[in-house]
Parts: sequence; C-alpha cells; structure tokens
Amino acid sequence: MTRPLRVAVTGAAGQIGYSLLFRIASGEMLGPNQPVIIQGLELPVALDALKGVAMELDDCAFETLHGMIATSDPDEAFGDADIVMCVGSRPRGPGMLRSDLIQANGPIFVGQGKSIDANAAADAKIIVVGNPCNTNCLIAAAQSTRIPKENWTAMTRLDQNRAIGQIANKAGVAPGEVKNVFIWGNHSPTMVPDIDQASIGGKSVNNTLDAQWLNEEFDATVRTRGKAIITARGKSSAASAGNAAIDHIHDWFLGTGSNDFVSMAVPSDGSYGVPEGLIFSFPCRITAPWKYEIVQGLEISEGNRERFKKTSQELEEERAAIAELL
Ligand code: NAD
Ligand code: LMR
Repeated sequence: MTRPLRVAVTGAAGQIGYSLLFRIASGEMLGPNQPVIIQGLELPVALDALKGVAMELDDCAFETLHGMIATSDPDEAFGDADIVMCVGSRPRGPGMLRSDLIQANGPIFVGQGKSIDANAAADAKIIVVGNPCNTNCLIAAAQSTRIPKENWTAMTRLDQNRAIGQIANKAGVAPGEVKNVFIWGNHSPTMVPDIDQASIGGKSVNNTLDAQWLNEEFDATVRTRGKAIITARGKSSAASAGNAAIDHIHDWFLGTGSNDFVSMAVPSDGSYGVPEGLIFSFPCRITAPWKYEIVQGLEISEGNRERFKKTSQELEEERAAIAELL
C-alpha cells in the first residue's frame, strides 16, 4: 500500500484551514490513491475548535484520510511532515496593507522555521500562505540548515487563478480554456501579471482581448483583488486561498496538466536579474513529482520592465525591514 504522506497545516482551525483540511483529506490535493495524515497546529486558544474540525473530518469518512493530529505543539505538528502548509498568522483587515502584518507575523516564522527544520522530513515541501507570504517564507527558510532551500515556497497561485478568472469572464469561455497566465514578483499590489505567453482556446490573449482592458482594468483588478474581497466580505479571502494552496501543492506533485508552467514564489537563483535568495514569483515548470525549474528565456515586455524592478525592490525593502529575523 502507498505510504500515507504527512501534511502539517498551521492555523488549521482558521478561515482558510477550515476549507483546506477537507480538501486535503478528500484526496483533491494529492490524488485519490494517495493516503494522507493531517497534522494540524493551532494556538492553545483555538485547539478546541481544531478538535471540533477533527470530529467533522471523522464524520466525512474520507477513504484517503488515514489519521489526524490536532495539537498546539509545533514540534509534534511538524514531526516527519512530508508537506508543510504555513497558514497560521494574522490576516489584514480593512485599511491595512499586507506588509503591515510583517511585525506581527514575521516572528511566527522564526520559531516555526526552526521547528520545521528540526522535525519535518529531510525533503519536506513547504508552502507559506500567511502574509506577507514571500517575506514570511524568506524568514522561515533562513532558519533552516537541513531542508533544501528550493523546498521553501510561497503562494502566488491565487493571483494566477484570479487573472485566469478575469480573462475567462471577459472572453466568455470556461477558465480551462485559458493557458499560461502567470505572475512575477511579490504577492502585493506591485505583482506583475503576465499574459504575454497566455492563450485562449489556442489563440494569443494579446491578440484576442482589448489591449486597453488588459493594460488597465484587468491588471488593476488582479493586483488589488485581495483588498476588494476584504471590502466586500469584511474578511480576507479564504475558500479561494485554500483552493490556490491545494492547486500549488497538487501541481508541484502531480504536474500542471495542459499548462506549460505555473506561478510559484520560490527562492531566486538570480534568474531574470532578480536578487538571489528573494522569494519571488516566477513561472515554474514541473519536471517530475516535487521538482520544479524556473522557466528561462522569456522576454519581459518593455511595458513590464519598470514594474518588474519595482516588485523586486519592494521585496528587497521587506527583506531589509526584517533583517534581524534572518
Ligand atoms: P484566520 O484568522 O481565520 O486564521 C488564522 C489561524 O491561525 C487562527 O485560527 C489562529 O488561531 C491561527 N494562528 C495564529 N498564529 C498562529 C501560530 N503562531 N501558530 C499556529 N496557528 C496560529 O486567518 P485566515 O483568513 O485563515 O488567513 C491566514 C493567513 O493567510 C493571513 O495571514 C492571511 O493574510 C493569509 N492569506 C494569504 C493569501 C495568499 O494569497 N498568500 C490569501 C489569503 C489569506
Ligand atoms: C488575498 O490576496 O486575498 C490575501 O493575501 C488576503 C489579503 O490580505 O489580501
């Protein structure tokens, strides 16, 4: 029988956790033939709530769920974990920037980074969702001496999915028709949605949709969607964020299907002139289960060049602001 994979999820009783856990357990993330053991971490104050979620998971009788741990001890939660999903942290409220969260959330990733490094599997794969996710991932990865640097990633898949949704709506097609849209840089309004490689039903997006709409409305909608959701719901995105985290891990393990590549924020190796070590969203090609490479040789359009520098500089500024945590 296939060995169950251990999936640690922090903030497991929060908004995102509540949508994520059921989809991990049902086999949507790792496939219907891959058993999982969920190892949920919560603050002591939310541990009873997490135990309630564990009861609901039992009540689903998912065939792929082979166990569930609910704990407030990080070392136990990360113990032998094959996959670590770092969600637990404060979300922003109305009027806040994601970067305003760095002072509250950054320190969480020092302790958790150390605990992941000490307790998770030596080749554990990590996704950071808690904001500001690129720089929180940088902080956690900096604590690690054992787990390879390339295994530390952050989530920009939600931004990619948002871009696909907007294009599909505008073109009047199903989202599956839209291929090879991706995001460069930071999960912040400086991100650069890139549609230069993208197609709808095999035709270039640039040649299909109105240029003014693409340059103005589409671009701004994708970059500021998180804020628009908070304004509408009074709370930050949750089910769509959980969905994107599922997609990120699914594609890293099982491949990108009919897309050539996917957006993942990964440690820069200097590709495209991005300072080495920054956790930067690149188009990534999945070459084998749990193996990605940064797609090389894409041209950054004239219009995107300045913006590309800006998102990179913003990540350098965030890195400088938390230098004492690295
Ligand atoms: P939430 O407040 O509903 O849940 C967070 C949970 O984390 C809570 O249950 C809390 O008890 C727990 N928690 C806090 N500190 C913890 C710690 N040190 N260890 C373990 N658990 C801890 O928030 P949410 O809506 O689930 O959002 C979680 C994070 O995800 C926020 O930072 C939010 O901004 C971020 N987010 C990121 C994206 C993205 O695209 N990268 C999208 C949406 C939300
Ligand atoms: C999002 O993009 O929805 C999340 O990062 C939450 C936020 O604060 O915008």
